[in-house]
Formats: sequence, C-alpha cells, structure tokens
Amino acid sequence: MTTATSSRAEHIDTSDVESLLAQVRASFAKTPDQRSRAILDALVRHTHAFMREVAPTLEEWQAGVEFLTRVGQACSDTRQEFVLLSDILGLSMLAETINDADVESVTDSTVLGPFHMTASPVRQLGDSTDLTGVGTPCVITGTVRAPDGTPLPGASLDVWQCDGDGFYDVQKSGEVPAGNGRGLFSANQDGDFHFRTVVPSHYPIPTDGPVGDILAVARRHPYRPAHVHFIAGAAGFRDLTTHVFVADSPYLDSDAVFAVKDSLVMTFETSDDPDLAAAHGLATPFTHAHVDLVLAPLETPAGTSR
Ligand code: BEZ
Ligand code: FE
Repeated sequence: MTTATSSRAEHIDTSDVESLLAQVRASFAKTPDQRSRAILDALVRHTHAFMREVAPTLEEWQAGVEFLTRVGQACSDTRQEFVLLSDILGLSMLAETINDADVESVTDSTVLGPFHMTASPVRQLGDSTDLTGVGTPCVITGTVRAPDGTPLPGASLDVWQCDGDGFYDVQKSGEVPAGNGRGLFSANQDGDFHFRTVVPSHYPIPTDGPVGDILAVARRHPYRPAHVHFIAGAAGFRDLTTHVFVADSPYLDSDAVFAVKDSLVMTFETSDDPDLAAAHGLATPFTHAHVDLVLAPLETPAGTSR
C-alpha cells in the first residue's frame, strides 16, 4: 500500500533491478586480472545499491552527471577538484587510514592535500621557509626516528604550509615569491632537523568550484585548522605524509577534510632558549614547536588496527 511517507525506492520492481544487476556483474565476470575484476564487481554492486536507495528522478540523475562534469572541468595543472571532492567526503582520509602502517609507535599519517603541487626549494638546516614575514615567527625542531627509537641520519623532510594569513604561495603567485612556506631539508647525522617559519593560520579550502557548491548546499563550513605539512623519508622506510596541527587553532574539531588525529596536535610553545633563538635570528621569547617523526620500515604491512 502506498502511504504519504513511502519513498520512491520502495516502488522499484526488485526482480527487474536484480536481473539488471546480475547482467552487469556477469559482463565483468571474465575480467582476466583478479584485482581489476574484484574492484569492478564491487563498483557495480555498490553503485547499484546507491542508486536503488536514492532512486533519483531523471532530472536528479542528469544533475549528478553535470556535477561530475563540472568537477572534471575544474581540474587543471594547478587544481585537482576530484581530490577535493574525495577530501570533503572523507575518502582521502579513509585511503590514508586503510594504508597506515600497522605499527603502534609510527607517526600517524594524514591527507596530502592539493597544495603539494610545486617542488619545495632545497634548504639547509636552520634556514627560514618564510620569505614574506606574514605571521608570528616560529622555530620548528624535531628528530626522525625508526620505531625502536634509532635516529635516521640524513632523513628527508619536505615541508609546506600557508602563511599567517592562511595563504599558500601558489594562491598568491606573482604576489609572493614561489617557495614561500616550503622547504626540502635533510636531517643531520643524528636525525635532527630545525628551521624557522611562521605559525600557520587556519584557512578555507577552495570553494569557488563545484565542491564549494556541495559545502554550501550542506551548510558546511570550508575551514581547515592550522597545520604544517610534512613528507618524511629515509632509505629502507616508508614515506610518511602527515601534518602537525597547532594546538589552539579553531576548527580542530570540525576539519572540512576530516584529517585531524589527536596524536598530530602539538603545542606551539613560548620559548626562552637564547641559543635556539640566536641560531634562527630571533629574540626571546619566541614560538617553538618540537616534532618527532617515527617512520615505518618498508616491509611493514598496511593495516587498519590502529
Ligand atoms: C591542505 O591541507 O593543504 C588541504 C587538504 C585538503 C583539501 C584542501 C587543502
Ligand atoms: Fe594545508
């Protein structure tokens, strides 16, 4: 019986849609590569289940196709709207979590994000990544280690961040020097690194494309809490893509891309250390964050137990 509250999906003839599903699955059943076969079968099963639950009108179906078309059209050499879509749906974070190394002591990973689009300039330990002075000066120190605590000499550290106003260099190209907020460092013989920067601000992800339209429809804000990005690497270890989040930043509890892990939130402290200040051309007191990064050995399996 039809009631005022029944959904469109309840009126679908199940035998027809089951038969359609079976035919489509059968069409992929002879895919020679086993992994491709499994992925295609899951894609068909889950997309059919989605369509059956939503039961779109033909106008809604067309709107969905047009939306994905706009997502593709928004992509360029400097913009990846599909990654942004994956980010706001939590799928980028899910991919990271599925592939996290299954070792308790390893530093948690988080999303890469779209702003790692240019190569970071090679810098020496102690250099500043801040080329414009927009923001509160800050020193970041740290050590890269193996899970047993052994330092990893010469570990590489690719670092990028926005300035104190929330802008990455690529968002202000022509206005700020390329490489502002970025640096490619090598840790010393003890696995230690140190550089000067500014405390990053929270900032909105790009909202001038179709992903912004979804956020607006859902009344979701576009902000990410303040963070510094790192990719750390060392021979024999898995690359670690992660962030350090600033402990008192707004939006730590509502990151637009769901990338906050408690273990990655760090206090940017006020320091009176005269030697550290002098080594980075600062007066005391100054802001300092210490970041220890623990990498997983290459052979570590991915797992979801953490
Ligand atoms: C970022 O942290 O750079 C970022 C991550 C996901 C979406 C937009 C920006
Ligand atoms: Fe970022």
